Amino acid sequence: MHTFEAIISLDKFPIIIGTNIFDSLIAFLKNYTKNNIFIICDNYFKVNTNSYSESLFFIHEYNNLFIDGGIESKTIETYQVVIKELVKKNIARDGIIVSIGGGVIGDLSAFVASTYQRGIDLVHVPTTTTAMIDSSIGGKTGINHLEQVNLIGSYHNPKAIFMDLRLLLSLNNRDYYSGICEAIKMSITSDKEMFLKFLDIYELVEQRNLDTLEEIIYWSVLTKLKHVSNDYKEKSLRLILNYGHTFGQAIETYYGLYQEKLKHGEAIALGISIAAKISDLLFENDDSKNLLLKTHEVINKYNLPDKFNKINSPDIPDINILIKNLFNDKKRISQGNRFIICESIGNTKIKILNDEKILIKGFEHIY
Ligand SMILES: NC(=O)c1ccc[n+]([C@@H]2O[C@H](COP(=O)([O-])OP(=O)(O)OC[C@H]3O[C@@H](n4cnc5c(N)ncnc54)[C@H](O)[C@@H]3O)[C@@H](O)[C@H]2O)c1
Repeated sequence: MHTFEAIISLDKFPIIIGTNIFDSLIAFLKNYTKNNIFIICDNYFKVNTNSYSESLFFIHEYNNLFIDGGIESKTIETYQVVIKELVKKNIARDGIIVSIGGGVIGDLSAFVASTYQRGIDLVHVPTTTTAMIDSSIGGKTGINHLEQVNLIGSYHNPKAIFMDLRLLLSLNNRDYYSGICEAIKMSITSDKEMFLKFLDIYELVEQRNLDTLEEIIYWSVLTKLKHVSNDYKEKSLRLILNYGHTFGQAIETYYGLYQEKLKHGEAIALGISIAAKISDLLFENDDSKNLLLKTHEVINKYNLPDKFNKINSPDIPDINILIKNLFNDKKRISQGNRFIICESIGNTKIKILNDEKILIKGFEHIY
């Protein structure tokens, strides 16, 4: 079990990672009046029972609302449903929202918490690899609107995060590996030793060994905190977390919001394959060749796609559409096309790339 303090900008809060941690959550909630606590939980845990279900019974002792996980729930309509329930239950300004779910329930609950009565307290209990490794850390909240991802959102840090690794045992394989991809990506940009470990431990990850998962998630949380704590609103250091994202997003845009054909982490896996190829085209040395080779090796070991023929759809986009999407990306800045590129594993640079031919060759690499 790991218990430590996160510091993001002016906010400080505890993070607990382990198994059987719900007693600590219940103890934490004693800081609030019971009828001022409102739990928003992924419907998965109402409908499905398994070995840890009993430890979730406490939810029924508080005000609660179960909402389906999945991208379809991250909407303004669901937001309104939650707000109505909060009003109905008379949740006051000094109350707290507890979010139990994946990135969808987490982003939605956090957006509710940041806006209801101009902002109330929030606790995250992430239940997917994506939510533990990525979305519960960093304070970003959001809902999708007008077919655009996180068009409406804000920044709002929680008062605490409780991660129970047993929850990951029931996650389906695609969602499981999609979240792990974020951790692999961070190791490529900032920690060669961890990257090499990923190449070794893939069988333990496949078996969902809880000690291995604890090590990966603890490392990921610390690494993400390092990137966001001094750069809360995404100025420079935080941008390194976007490695592979700009390329992945160009692909994600083609498949649209609903992720059956391509999950976010799968798009990132394609994106980091493109980024590694571009790096090799730019540097053409032993380090860049090694980066390219090992990127494919790790993606394959973790059941993620590094080429279009490995995704869950026969529908493959025309390359020109992807290049067009790339140049429409909101993260592009006026001075040129800023991309995060690794020179070697663990060594990242922000580069302005205006040579469209190199970008095209990067995309061609995944066909
Ligand atoms: N805020 C951020 O910084 C940030 C970062 C990355 C991703 N995100 C957002 O996260 C969302 C994706 O998150 P996600 O992949 O967790 O999706 P999700 O929340 O939809 O969860 C995926 C599926 O798993 C189910 N599920 C949840 N926990 C489970 C468990 N323990 N066992 C079995 N099934 C379970 C859900 O019901 C859902 O069907 C996207 O909306 C994305 O925009 C936000």
